[in-house]
Amino acid sequence: MSFTSLPGGTLTLGDLTVTRFGYGAMQLAGPYVMGPPRDPDGARALLREVVELGITHIDTADAYGPHVTNRLIREALHPYPAGLHIVTKVGAGRDAQGGWPPARDPASLRRAVHDNLDLLKLDRLDLVNLRLGNAQGPQDGSLAEAFETLAALQHEGLIRHLGVSNATAAQVAEARSIAPIVCVQNMYNLAHRHDDELIDALAADGIAYVPFFPLGGFSPLQSTALSSVADRLGAKPMGVALAWLLRRSPNILLIPGTAASDHLHENIDGAATQLSPDDLTELDRIGR
Ligand SMILES: NC(=O)c1ccc[n+]([C@@H]2O[C@H](COP(=O)([O-])OP(=O)(O)OC[C@H]3O[C@@H](n4cnc5c(N)ncnc54)[C@H](OP(=O)(O)O)[C@@H]3O)[C@@H](O)[C@H]2O)c1
Repeated sequence: MSFTSLPGGTLTLGDLTVTRFGYGAMQLAGPYVMGPPRDPDGARALLREVVELGITHIDTADAYGPHVTNRLIREALHPYPAGLHIVTKVGAGRDAQGGWPPARDPASLRRAVHDNLDLLKLDRLDLVNLRLGNAQGPQDGSLAEAFETLAALQHEGLIRHLGVSNATAAQVAEARSIAPIVCVQNMYNLAHRHDDELIDALAADGIAYVPFFPLGGFSPLQSTALSSVADRLGAKPMGVALAWLLRRSPNILLIPGTAASDHLHENIDGAATQLSPDDLTELDRIGR
């Protein structure tokens, strides 16, 4: 499959073109995103398959493992094929209990950017998201000092484009007052629609919206309405959830996570499911 035949086609992030069907690498680390995977060879093979299928957008972070997914990506894919864009996040660390403590002071952010560059073996990161809030979701508060630090690193040539993640609408606006952003990566899916207004506003401004947990995250979506639409269409529920996201707004990029090749294929096929206006109305009701 080439990128032109992946569901959703392509979208631009600044001057980068990516397939709207991307891949989230978080699930490749060990249980609770800590430590190595049970099958590192399988994880590397899956990453190579992602690229062979034409996907040109891989989402990762140094905090996954920590360092595990970035290392797997480098081992599997370096030297990276032309056109592949690896998007990373900084702003959260890991503690011994598997928590995600904030690491947004300037020194931690600088270190995190350099760690990502070293582990991924890159001279410049294509896109870095500043991860805000905590595991419960976004939290109010100024991001100025942290985002100015990333803007300085961008100015130094270490980062091509910036984005924010787990952010409130006010933080998105504050970030944009400091430096241009090309994406917002927040939690959003069929059942979790908090960002509806933000998505539409970003679409109008040509900024991508990248839902994390597009399938519900650690507890994949369960909905009788979703299952009934999927059954009617002869599709799988997860695929229909992705097809709905692609239809929800043209600025949405998908980064579903999986450690399983059969799920990767199922999700690509499912995201191409044609949804009628009636299907969309039924699916729309799930999260309202
Ligand atoms: N910015 C942030 O704060 C943040 C937070 C969380 C995640 N992320 C990013 O967003 C990406 C996506 O989120 P996610 O991976 O946590 O959650 P997700 O994509 O919503 O769901 C992943 C889960 O769904 C399962 N799954 C995938 N395809 C399936 C299928 N066809 N049938 C049944 N189950 C299926 C996976 O299990 P299998 O492995 O068995 O397929 C995995 O347990 C992450 O990989 C990460 O890159 C960012």
